[in-house]
Amino acid sequence: MRFGHFDDAAREYVISTPETPHPWINYLGAEEFFGLISHTGGGYCFHRDARLRRLTRYRYNGLPTDGGGRCFYLNDGGEVWCPTWAPVRAPLDRYECRHGLGYTMIAGERDGLTAEILYLVPLGTNAEVHRLRLRNRSGRRREVQVFSLIEFCLWDALDDQTNYQRNLSLGEVEVAGSTVYHVTEYRERRNHYAFYGVNAPPAGYDTDRDAFFGPGRGWDHPEVPFAGAARNSRASGWAPIASHQVEVSLAPGQETDLVFVLGYAENPPEEKWEAPGVANKAPARALLARFADSAAVDEARAGLKAYWEGLLGTCRMRSNDPRVDRMVNTWNPYQCMVTFNLSRSASYFESGIGRGMGFRDSCQDLLGFVHLVPKRARERILDIAATQFPDGSAYHQYQPLTKRGNHDVGSGFNDDPLWLITAAGAYVRETGDHSILEETVPFDNDPNDTATLFEHLRRSFHFTLENLGPHGLPLIGRADWNDCLNLNCFSTTPGESFQTTQNRAGRTAESVFIAGLFVHAAADYTGLARAAGKPEEVELGASAAARMAAAVADHGWDGEWFLRAYDYFGDKVGSRECAQGQVFIEPQGMCVMAGIGLADGRAARALDTVRARLDTPHGLVLHQPAYTRYHPELGEITSYPPGYKENAGVFCHTNPWVVIAETRLGRGERAFEYWSKIAPAFREEFSEVHRLEPYVYAQMIAGRDAPRYGEAKNSWLTGSAAWNLVAINQHILGIRPEWEGLRVAPCLPAHLAEVEVERRCRGAAYRIDIVNCGTGAAPQVTVDGHLLEGTLVPYAAPGAVVAVRVEV
Ligand code: BGC
Repeated sequence: MRFGHFDDAAREYVISTPETPHPWINYLGAEEFFGLISHTGGGYCFHRDARLRRLTRYRYNGLPTDGGGRCFYLNDGGEVWCPTWAPVRAPLDRYECRHGLGYTMIAGERDGLTAEILYLVPLGTNAEVHRLRLRNRSGRRREVQVFSLIEFCLWDALDDQTNYQRNLSLGEVEVAGSTVYHVTEYRERRNHYAFYGVNAPPAGYDTDRDAFFGPGRGWDHPEVPFAGAARNSRASGWAPIASHQVEVSLAPGQETDLVFVLGYAENPPEEKWEAPGVANKAPARALLARFADSAAVDEARAGLKAYWEGLLGTCRMRSNDPRVDRMVNTWNPYQCMVTFNLSRSASYFESGIGRGMGFRDSCQDLLGFVHLVPKRARERILDIAATQFPDGSAYHQYQPLTKRGNHDVGSGFNDDPLWLITAAGAYVRETGDHSILEETVPFDNDPNDTATLFEHLRRSFHFTLENLGPHGLPLIGRADWNDCLNLNCFSTTPGESFQTTQNRAGRTAESVFIAGLFVHAAADYTGLARAAGKPEEVELGASAAARMAAAVADHGWDGEWFLRAYDYFGDKVGSRECAQGQVFIEPQGMCVMAGIGLADGRAARALDTVRARLDTPHGLVLHQPAYTRYHPELGEITSYPPGYKENAGVFCHTNPWVVIAETRLGRGERAFEYWSKIAPAFREEFSEVHRLEPYVYAQMIAGRDAPRYGEAKNSWLTGSAAWNLVAINQHILGIRPEWEGLRVAPCLPAHLAEVEVERRCRGAAYRIDIVNCGTGAAPQVTVDGHLLEGTLVPYAAPGAVVAVRVEV
């Protein structure tokens, strides 16, 4: 069952009922100001930091879910309804939500009156613009009262939900013209305020929540819009809001626009006041003036469109399967950009007050956007490297505002350093910019302890070599990629964090996954060492990788698949000897991606085991059998009920590793089958099972051991976006930047018969025609009419247009 459809030409997902199984959201903003917006107008906005500069309130876990947000109540001759359906939930004659690239449009119609709201954050502004367009399609004049409503957050979103003894006395507002200014704490140390204005003279306003709602009422039935009269209330402490009452009179057929601006403004300390105790409103006035008419909103929208077309034009495809095209052209790269902007901070599953930026998460996210915004990727790599410790290890997280390592979480996740190599490799292969390797970068942000980026990468690589266990495999530390496989933790205290609690000292627990990752990263490492002019590291890297691959063959192979780990006691994890957790997905995907076992048939056997043991109609589960009880020696993974999250859920991040691994064996059908099982556009048709947005990846789909098998959780901010993009673009379509050229080696399923791809890389444009004859013969590549030996298309000069034809 579907709840909408894709409009590919407009690059929009169109939701046709407000009653989706879960709020289906979108993101506004691409620079410093962001909003999360659901299909009924719910959500919130913030400037730069979702915790510390939160403009509007949001209640996670509220009931009804997704209450609040940006509300427009229409009082149409005594009947009150919302174009977004919620929060009043009066029945609509027509409803539609269009989530597009950086904007959302929600339209409702009732009794011949249509109301369409366009929400966007214009480029270069710190504001959400809400344009309400009312159209009278009936044959009679309509007198409509519009009541806007937003509720301010007192800036620090965590404090706002906890520190009531202070906060309930703090709230302050100013009202000037048609704008409400939220100036809480402006009297003291804040030099910023928020504002909500409209480009029409209001008949009234409210700024005090209690006055607007009345006793005991919720968002669905506030007194003011139902009574049809604002109270001109002034917030003093308690909960400041902003609401305008605007009177609109529409002749039959007439249409009118109102433009609301919800913004953030900062003043230099010396220009804080325009009169004693009166906030300087100049920056807000300038922004309000800019959006004084509707044409400015159209212009902003055109600007956004150009911005996104420019970015997404980097890679475009056309095939006979529109579901593939819409993932590759629009939704997968869009999600990667959102993940770049927000890391794991603010979604409908991440509260915006929790984690900082993950070291490994950020490195992997980069794989999905490096071709779209290479300059920003460069900056990101240098920021991440600057949090590294001198011994090559890494903070597990860092804070986006300060860019410093997060002491609370600390370090000890032994896969982390290797991801930095993967990120740097992806960047240099994409751009050819070797100069990044020469950049001076501090360790742990200490300006007195610096080295080149290459030296950072060298220490990352050597960190693994210096931390090997009894079998010559890498020590796992607190955990590897799977944050929940905590082999040294032994936690028995309720509520204790598995990631930060004191671990047992031990040098026994080893990770086969990190071994695979090491060999995988070694390919990038040797390439980077060559680029940096370090022949000794090229040689060392290659021989260390060979030794590691041999250690995996000797001690990391269980007979039919790769082992997962050795635990604190030296016992096997992910082995047929185990009662539960016999086969894990991560080492199968990663080791084969790294090329381990390709020559001796183990790779194929491992992937056949994945097929036999982990494959389900909803994707590949993380391991089998699921753990049915808590094991202190395994940690958090066994804390989840079977089938959820890391305990045998379909953890979408890991599936593309197996997809890529299958392409290494040339098994295009299987690769595509796995990719499409979790690709959101392919899951659209059973949205009632999947339940989350059919246009973006979720972190997890409940596995077959779970009662809610097939149901997704944690959409948007997940490494699944980047890895799935890598899988489809670079390994199924097979177009990937390598050191000396663009590899064009598709590994397609038979039904994708004709595929055209346009890929910009290093300033040149490659027009690639893939003809899939399905013969199984090696691909034949011609470049501008000349047959190539092999599949590596040499990089062309910037500005060149290269015609590539591939017969597979
Ligand atoms: C974390 C990742 C981790 C994954 C698997 C995610 O929640 O952000 O860093 O690799 O879970 O445990």
